[in-house]
Amino acid sequence: MSPELYSRSHLDTIPPPYNGPLSPLDKSAFKKSLPVLAVRVPAAQTATILHSEATRKYLLGLPKVKPVVGDPSAPDGDRLVLLGVSDQADLSPESLKVLKDAGNGFTDYNLTLDYDYWTASEILQAILPESLRKGAPVGFAATGHIAHVNLNDEYLPFKNTIGQLFLDKNKTIKTVVNKLDNIDTQFRFFQMEVIAGEPNLIVEHHESECRFTFDFSRVYWNSRLHTEHDRIVQLLQPGEVLADVFAGVGPFAIPAAKKGCAVVANDLNPWSYKYLSQNIKDNDVSDEVRAFCEDGRIFIRDVFKKVLDAPFPAYTGPKLSKTALRKLQKEAMRNPGGKPSPPKESLPPRKRISHIVMNLPDTAILFLDAFRGVLATQELQELYPTMPMIHCHCFTRELEQEQAEVDIKKRVEKKLGRPVQDDVAIRKVRSVAPGKEMYCISFRLPLEVAYNA
Ligand SMILES: C[S@@+](CC[C@H](N)C(=O)[O-])C[C@H]1O[C@@H](n2cnc3c(N)ncnc32)[C@H](O)[C@@H]1O
Repeated sequence: MSPELYSRSHLDTIPPPYNGPLSPLDKSAFKKSLPVLAVRVPAAQTATILHSEATRKYLLGLPKVKPVVGDPSAPDGDRLVLLGVSDQADLSPESLKVLKDAGNGFTDYNLTLDYDYWTASEILQAILPESLRKGAPVGFAATGHIAHVNLNDEYLPFKNTIGQLFLDKNKTIKTVVNKLDNIDTQFRFFQMEVIAGEPNLIVEHHESECRFTFDFSRVYWNSRLHTEHDRIVQLLQPGEVLADVFAGVGPFAIPAAKKGCAVVANDLNPWSYKYLSQNIKDNDVSDEVRAFCEDGRIFIRDVFKKVLDAPFPAYTGPKLSKTALRKLQKEAMRNPGGKPSPPKESLPPRKRISHIVMNLPDTAILFLDAFRGVLATQELQELYPTMPMIHCHCFTRELEQEQAEVDIKKRVEKKLGRPVQDDVAIRKVRSVAPGKEMYCISFRLPLEVAYNA
């Protein structure tokens, strides 16, 4: 048994029941005096006791409490080693011997636990009526400085207290919000109310070494999609062009641009577009990302022609940081006869989209018919010897992978009006709710669809 387990199982460390006001909490009411056994030890002997096999498991192992303190009765001399028991009778004969041999006798010690000691969850258990203790919220999801919870109705009378607890116990959290159940059906952001802390919903969040700023109450953001954002970006080769139909504030677009891709990013929510544009600037990818605020259907219809008419400049290798660029400039000045880099004009501009990402899982499949005829002109057809890859996110109620794949492929092909090729990949992204799974289907746009043949 670990020391902590021993102490926890032998000492009553649960906070006292709380009957004070809910808001603000009377924090001073959370005090508990815990009598423990201590052994007086000369400073030089402390290590013997702390490391002895026989005594180790009896040491006080409470989180945030030091097991060795100064002896108040001998300020310049002995230490007190605190034990996780309150009586010598609870010690094994071997440990008793070590403690007696190395120490200068036992004494009682009163440990005081207070509001700072207990976790938010432990304090909440002391506040809630018995009927609500099981199933009480234990944690939150964090985005930047905001903690978000989704409280069931029965916990609403305690919402401010719960918010205050999360705030007090987590130094990086400055605002706590309760997400209300009604999600905006079109733009997928949640209604929410601030239940504690500063009423500031403008978040600065870091993901994949990019900085994202956005108003949490007006745009879609889900930190749980981090792995999926990374996965898609890893599929892209530097220099390729990505079209992001439902870009949000840029979690695919901006990391892809940092990797060397050119990106056309679109979102119909004007707030997403505003923050997408800001994030493009803040991450120094203005040359690589173009932002649009259009309906996805119109964006799909026009984007191939847009990139053809206004191509991205040629890819000339990884983008250098400002410091690296300055270093190169200095070197070039010191060594004017050095090897010149190839002139940019000699490389072809980028006119061809290689990947399209469509993360609007609720309805993205319904947009697929918009690809009919997108490459109907000869000019575009000549540019696309291979068709672009589409990565389309979706939900399914099928819980088994095999059935989920059948369901998703069927719906995609129905909307396209054509079968997708055999190298289609269908990956589970995450379980969203009981009986609801999120997937991503990746397939090459069928030529017959693109040509409207
Ligand atoms: C699930 S979010 C995904 C955002 C982002 N790509 C991500 O991974 O976090 C879907 C986005 O699609 C946008 N959207 C919804 N309907 C749209 C439409 N008809 N056309 C374009 N964008 C739309 C929403 O505003 C939202 O930002």
